[in-house]
Amino acid sequence: MSSDPFDDKAATWDTDPSHVERAKVVAQAIRREVPLSRSMRTLEYGAGTGLVSEELQNDVGPLTLADTSAGMREVIASKVTQGRLPEVKVADFDLGAAELPDGRFELIVTVLTLHHMPDLKRALQGLHSLLEPGGQLCVVDLDKEDGSFHGDGFGGHHGFDRGELSGQLRSAGFDDVRMIDCHYIERDDGRFPMFLAVATLS
Ligand SMILES: C[S@@+](CC[C@H](N)C(=O)[O-])C[C@H]1O[C@@H](n2cnc3c(N)ncnc32)[C@H](O)[C@@H]1O
Repeated sequence: MSSDPFDDKAATWDTDPSHVERAKVVAQAIRREVPLSRSMRTLEYGAGTGLVSEELQNDVGPLTLADTSAGMREVIASKVTQGRLPEVKVADFDLGAAELPDGRFELIVTVLTLHHMPDLKRALQGLHSLLEPGGQLCVVDLDKEDGSFHGDGFGGHHGFDRGELSGQLRSAGFDDVRMIDCHYIERDDGRFPMFLAVATLS
């Protein structure tokens, strides 16, 4: 059995209509907030099955999709074969642990992934190192919550306070940090709002 909990979720991830709808809303918000172009080398970090990249692929340049879950990467690879994500590169690296990959990007998008990374400072430094000067970072994640989203034993972040995360982004070297209401996750136990943080690298 895999030790990565996302491996077991990968095969059925796209069968949840809320995941597909969320990717559409997130992509729309990014399009609204960031001037995109076909020349922007783009990294989706923690891409899961690549739903957000599927939405953005015609608006950006060459895409690299990174995820630490082998199951998620397999789904992306099958979408490459099927022609749904025809020209993406699939990568396996963890900004919380490993050495940074070669290559830099004009756009980095990361959706609901940072809250899974206990060492936030290191993650933000990694994202900073991967961005070209003038590039744009888009972080979509949960607003601060009471811990009920993942329940007991979760080792990540219970969402993020927007003001605190803005300060952490600035400390990591990002500029022009903006926080925008983005979407929400609706469950039986409540509604969990999400933000889109946009930051640039001068
Ligand atoms: C909640 S899912 C979101 C997937 C996708 N972004 C989406 O919106 O459908 C979080 C994803 O982050 C990945 N992930 C978790 N920790 C990671 C890390 N340290 N580095 C890269 N990916 C990570 C998981 O494997 C999973 O695919």
